[in-house]
Amino acid sequence: MTVVASKFERVANELYETEPWATEALLRHFPVEPNDRIWEPAAGNHKIADVLRAHGAEVFTSDIAVYDRPHDWVRDFFAPFVPVPPGITRLYTNPPYGKQNRDAVRFARISLERCSGLVALLLTAKFDFGKTRVDLFRDNPRYVAKIALVDRIQWFPGDKGGTEDHAWYVWAPAPGPGRGLARLIYEGRP
Ligand SMILES: C[S@@+](CC[C@H](N)C(=O)[O-])C[C@H]1O[C@@H](n2cnc3c(N)ncnc32)[C@H](O)[C@@H]1O
Repeated sequence: MTVVASKFERVANELYETEPWATEALLRHFPVEPNDRIWEPAAGNHKIADVLRAHGAEVFTSDIAVYDRPHDWVRDFFAPFVPVPPGITRLYTNPPYGKQNRDAVRFARISLERCSGLVALLLTAKFDFGKTRVDLFRDNPRYVAKIALVDRIQWFPGDKGGTEDHAWYVWAPAPGPGRGLARLIYEGRP
């Protein structure tokens, strides 16, 4: 039997669903490649996963909880010894942020450990600032792009456009020539 999360858990787990246009904006610059198998490790109600599938990717979903859509795995991403789904080429998600973005930072570091392919995370627009995160950005040769979203994401029906700006942060498979010079791209609703 699948245990479905309560309204309380939806809030506690930070279930904010990403509008499809935000994922489309990412895919305009980092399109799905043939044979891509993408891990969405905080899949929620598959708002990102569905767009990736529509672009031809095979998507492996996991999450700490089940809401309206079943996942391949129900797993806490922070648990030690979480196996990596076999054959994963990329990892894309909008993770939980937590207090002062602490969960988002953990999610980013663990994502880079567990996925040696392209990693794309939807985070707050100033997430790359701060001395405690230079390992993820300034000093990280895998960091290749920030896609600043000039429109605000509506996180739930009736939300009047949110109060915060967001961006996709993208890390490439491995350090290589030209890496270390991240591109800044502006994107938004079509
Ligand atoms: C901001 S929502 C994003 C959902 C989905 N990625 C999207 O963009 O629509 C964050 C998701 O992270 C999940 N989550 C929270 N803590 C988690 C953890 N420790 N491990 C895995 N998933 C977690 C929540 O259940 C929720 O679905």
